[in-house]
Amino acid sequence: MKFNKLFYSEIDSTNEEARRLVKQGVQEGTVIVAESQTAGYGKWKRTWFSPKGDGLYVSIILFPTETFSPLEFSLLGTLASVKAIKTLTGLEARIKWPNDVMVNGKKIGGVLVEKVKEWIVIGIGLNVNVKTFPDELKENASSLYLQLGSEVNKEELLDLLLKELDQLYPSKEQICAEWKSLSDTLGKQVKVVNQQGSFQGKAIGYGFHGELILETSDGKIMEFRSADVF
Ligand code: BTN
Repeated sequence: MKFNKLFYSEIDSTNEEARRLVKQGVQEGTVIVAESQTAGYGKWKRTWFSPKGDGLYVSIILFPTETFSPLEFSLLGTLASVKAIKTLTGLEARIKWPNDVMVNGKKIGGVLVEKVKEWIVIGIGLNVNVKTFPDELKENASSLYLQLGSEVNKEELLDLLLKELDQLYPSKEQICAEWKSLSDTLGKQVKVVNQQGSFQGKAIGYGFHGELILETSDGKIMEFRSADVF
């Protein structure tokens, strides 16, 4: 695919800009990149910490011809991010279902996929050279810089990320297989929290469209499309 990158020094949210561009008419492969976001957001509209210059804030616009669910695009975005990080830095990045990019047990990035008409927007936020986090994020969040001890070139990371994405899409089988091998969730005892409640058990697998399959402590099998996993 041919990617066309649009750079912004500051924007409310790259996903919001993608939404506006789709409504105005846009080409597949348009990529929105911002140095900072004033209203970046993540899953369940949580604020996404987007300090100027130190993070990668990007939204990729696709026009899917195959039947991919938003969840599958989320898997694609996390997988491409993890592979790009591993290649560029050598860090053992892993995926926490469904959309977290982890390094050494800390969250260093996340993916937010949104559907706009028939278009798909894959929003990716990676804490690349972030040096400090606000108190409420300190415990669970980190950056490539903090894990590596040196700065990472954001442009190179973005180019690798787009290359990985291009190679993986649209092969469902490849995404699924590679995603499983880089998963930090599979086979673990986890707590799954969503709007319906909190469920404890073992993450025993992924469904056909990337759903998390949980075997609860009392032997019940449950399937999740969206949740927080601990
Ligand atoms: C999450 O972990 O909840 C997902 C975070 C996604 C953040 C990125 S930053 C670029 C794009 N623009 C946004 O407003 N959000 C996504």
